[in-house]
Amino acid sequence: MNSTRDLISIRDLSKKDVESIIEKSEEMNKQIEAKKIKETMKGKILANMFFEPSTRTIMSFSAAMQKLGGSVIGFEEIEKTSMVKGESFIDTVKIMEKYADVLVIRHPKEGSARYAANASTKPVINAGDGANQHPTQTLLDLFTIKKLKGNIQDLNITLLGDLKYARTMHSLAYALAMMDANITLVSPFGLEMEKNFVNEIKEKFTPRIIQTNDIHAGVRKADILYVCRIQKERFLDAYEAEKLQKEFMISPELLEESKEDMIILHPLPKVSEIDPRVDDSEKAKYFMQAYYGIPVRMALINWVFE
Ligand code: CP
Repeated sequence: MNSTRDLISIRDLSKKDVESIIEKSEEMNKQIEAKKIKETMKGKILANMFFEPSTRTIMSFSAAMQKLGGSVIGFEEIEKTSMVKGESFIDTVKIMEKYADVLVIRHPKEGSARYAANASTKPVINAGDGANQHPTQTLLDLFTIKKLKGNIQDLNITLLGDLKYARTMHSLAYALAMMDANITLVSPFGLEMEKNFVNEIKEKFTPRIIQTNDIHAGVRKADILYVCRIQKERFLDAYEAEKLQKEFMISPELLEESKEDMIILHPLPKVSEIDPRVDDSEKAKYFMQAYYGIPVRMALINWVFE
């Protein structure tokens, strides 16, 4: 088939789409393990257009494309582009689509990936747009949960941290509700997930969502504890951000309250919200989660060309 599609928001996917992407990711994982990867992207070029810093997303997209036999071009900062001379974002997109077959875009402005997709004839993958969406992260989170727990439905999943600004948490809460998980939202006062958004996913998928500021209750209940960073860069007052980071830190002592087989996930980068001693715990699976970015992004690169 010669059609292509974009991946802009988890909202654009049905439950069936998500299940199919998880299955394809498992197939990619098997191909990697067997060292028998089908080079489906031979002759194709992926362009990384990163207007915000990244380690995992940019590197795993590059690795994924190369494993599929394709090539990678792109930039990681606006200063290396002609946008510093005044060229517009859309003109930059129109140029990059002339040089590449698929565009992977991270941008601080919400809606920028959709804006780019409307201007591009080549598939666009949203690698994070402001505090809005990070759909490829969500899909790798779902894949990790399925891989480590066998299922997603009916699991007690606690999302903990800055639920207001963290884009990964918006995509993830939506997807977990779609997959019938029980969701507990734990955040410091003032960093709760927007009421309208929570009501929307409750009405659309499941009423099994509770919100609390009690970190202990969230940890005790969890089969999965999904932690995210307090985004200091989005605060005007750095001292306030640091104070909240300390109050919501995951420590070995706190984990004593958790279920035996509970696992901890984190989109990374982590700063001080997880005590480094936790890294050695059997429960800490966030580095494995980051690895799964490769098979999932391989599956997604194939998916946009299906
Ligand atoms: N999880 C994530 O998006 O990491 P990067 O910002 O390093 O890409």
